This record gives sequence, C-alpha cells and structure tokens, in this order.
Amino acid sequence: MANGMYRIQGEGAFEYLAKAQAQEREGKEVLHFEIGQPDFPTPQNIKDAAYESIENNFTGYVSATGILELKQAIQDEIEQTRGFRPSIEQILILPGAKPGIFFTMLGLVNPGEEVIYPDPGFPTYGSVVKYLNAGDVPIQLKEENEFRLNPNDIEERITDKTKLIILNSPQNPTGSVMTKEEIDKVAEIAEKNNIFLLSDEIYSKMLYEASFHSPAVRDESKERTIILDGFSKSYAMTGWRLGYVVGPEEIIERMGTLMINALSCTTSFVQKAGITALKGTQEPLMKMMKAFLERRNAIVEGLNSIPNFTCLHPQGAFYAFPNIKDTGMNSREIADHILYKAGVCCLPGSAFGEGGEGYLRFSYATSIETIQKAVQQIKDSFE
Ligand SMILES: Cc1ncc(COP(=O)(O)O)c(C=O)c1O
Repeated sequence: MANGMYRIQGEGAFEYLAKAQAQEREGKEVLHFEIGQPDFPTPQNIKDAAYESIENNFTGYVSATGILELKQAIQDEIEQTRGFRPSIEQILILPGAKPGIFFTMLGLVNPGEEVIYPDPGFPTYGSVVKYLNAGDVPIQLKEENEFRLNPNDIEERITDKTKLIILNSPQNPTGSVMTKEEIDKVAEIAEKNNIFLLSDEIYSKMLYEASFHSPAVRDESKERTIILDGFSKSYAMTGWRLGYVVGPEEIIERMGTLMINALSCTTSFVQKAGITALKGTQEPLMKMMKAFLERRNAIVEGLNSIPNFTCLHPQGAFYAFPNIKDTGMNSREIADHILYKAGVCCLPGSAFGEGGEGYLRFSYATSIETIQKAVQQIKDSFE
C-alpha cells in the first residue's frame, strides 16, 4: 500500500458504535450517545422533492460542480446568513461536508506545510493532515475559555510554513461557539500572514444563546476563506450526502477538477432535495432546535449531578463535553466503564485529539427520557 494509507485514521464514533452493537448482539440494552446525527427524520417536503425528481427521471450525471439552481439557492443562503453574495463560480457542491475538508486540504497543502486546527476537534482534520504528510499543528482548546479557540494561541504557532488554519464554530466535540471578536481576529491574523482559512460551519444553524459569525465576511471568500457547510445536521440529512464549499474562484475551479476525477458529480436528485431544504419551510429545523435546547439543559444538569463530573453549557451543535478528570480514570477507561457497567455509549474525548483527554462527548440526539435514564445508570455504575 501507499505510505499515506498507514497515516490516515478512522473515527472513534464508529469504533464505539461497533462496541455498543457487540453488546446489543449479546442481548444487552445500550443507550446511544456516540454518533453525531440528529434523531429526527428528514423533513417530508425534502423527501418529496427527491421522490419527485426521481419520478421526473432527474437521475443522470449532472455538472461536476453542482446544478445551477442549487448554487443559486446557496448564493441566497450565504447572502442572508453571512451578509455577502458569492458568485456562482465561488460555489462547489459536494457529497457531504467531509469531502470539502479533504478536497480543500488536498487542493491547498503541500507536504511539509503546516495546518493549524482545534484540539479536541473533528478527527478528519488531523487525519488528512497526516495523510498529506503535512505539519500537524493542533491547538489546545481550553475549558477556562469555554473551549473557544483563542486567536492568540493561533498567532503564537504561526511559522513561515503555515498554510491553512481550520476553524469550526459551533464546534464538534465541545459545542463551543467563538465570539465575533475572536472570529474577526483569526480572519485578521490569516490576512496579515497570508494564510488560507477553512471555516467549517456545518453547525451554523444550530445555536442556543450564542450567535453565529463567519470569518468569510472579511474577504467575502474571494482571497483566502473557504466556507464549508452542508445539509447533514441542520436538515437531518446525514445519509443523503450533500454539502458545499464557497471559496476563491480559482481554488473552487481546481477543486471542481478533483470532483470530476474522484466522483463525477454529487447525486442529481439529492441536489434537488437540497434546494427545497434551503428554500422551503424552516419549521422542522426550528422544532428540532427547540428539542435540542431542552435536551441540552437536561443533559448538562444530569451530567453535573454525577459525582466527579462537571459540564459546561454548550452554546451550539448537539454535544455535551463533561470533564471527568476527578474520577481518576482516563477518558477511554471511563467511556468503557460507562458502556460495559452502565449500558451507555458515549465517546472518549481523546477520540478527538490529545486535547480531549479528561473529557467525554455525549451526542444528545436522543429523548429526554433516555438522557435521564442514562444519567441514573451512570450514577448507579459508580456506586
Ligand atoms: C465539524 C464537522 N464537520 C464536518 C462534518 C461532516 O459532515 P457530513 O456528514 O456532511 O460530511 C461533521 C460531521 O460529523 C462535523 O462534525
């Protein structure tokens, strides 16, 4: 195999899902908090749009960079939510947000060049850095700063090899949301040092008390900022595979060539469904966020009631990230203990990088009853 194949890594969520399923095969009940996907069905109007376009035989190859109608819907979306209108040539439609991470890094980073990214963070960032033989520069997110990436920490780690900074706000796995000042400062640092910025905004519609800001406002994604967003989380469409990037035209054009070679195009009728997601009623999203807010409050209260657990209030996404350092066990030991002794599957914080050691991640895409039951079972398991 090629050398890079020994460097690319899997995801802890799938490892723990497999462990939980093994328990279930033995007849044991497991309460699931490991996978980051909404437990709501895809809204009916979105499904109907896909059925209709299949019926109309919209099932062939389409443009490698995405269909015009969806790009136009994304132009409107970016204008409404980020305050500027990108050109059609700045938009690339992809099968999910994840290929946007892979293609952006493949398209920008040479071996030896450095990538700065949050730790704990979405595992794909570090994995692709290693795959590309690029320089790995994880920046520790600190609980004292409510897990928000501190722009000063970024500035300290910039070298003449730094090529790309990855931001993710609202963040996976901590649920932190960076302030406007912090986001603006990172955009300024990137500009001053002539560094590209990948802003993973997949949770931009999933906020509680905080408000969302994008660093792309500074250059309107014309110079250095690549916005990554998608439909998986906000519209409960994880299995459909639909996402997009907005970036400088010449980079997007080259990334379109990666699409031609790797995937030909994003599934035609899924793109039609995406138009309905953006243009249709946002009621299901609002209902989902109302439920997530109630669950967030329930899980934070519950986790804080477990001896030796403390948990901040996440401001976005649907993850709680309790500190378990006072238990005296590391995060894998605790995650295994909770799975095998309490029948609750969550993820060790260390699955998101060394900076996640001492924490657990609970995806609260589940009912209040399940949250309360899980908290009780975890408490009982320590008695
Ligand atoms: C921060 C972050 N970025 C990207 C993705 C990938 O999204 P998609 O399923 O659309 O590829 C996820 C999914 O968990 C995520 O948490």
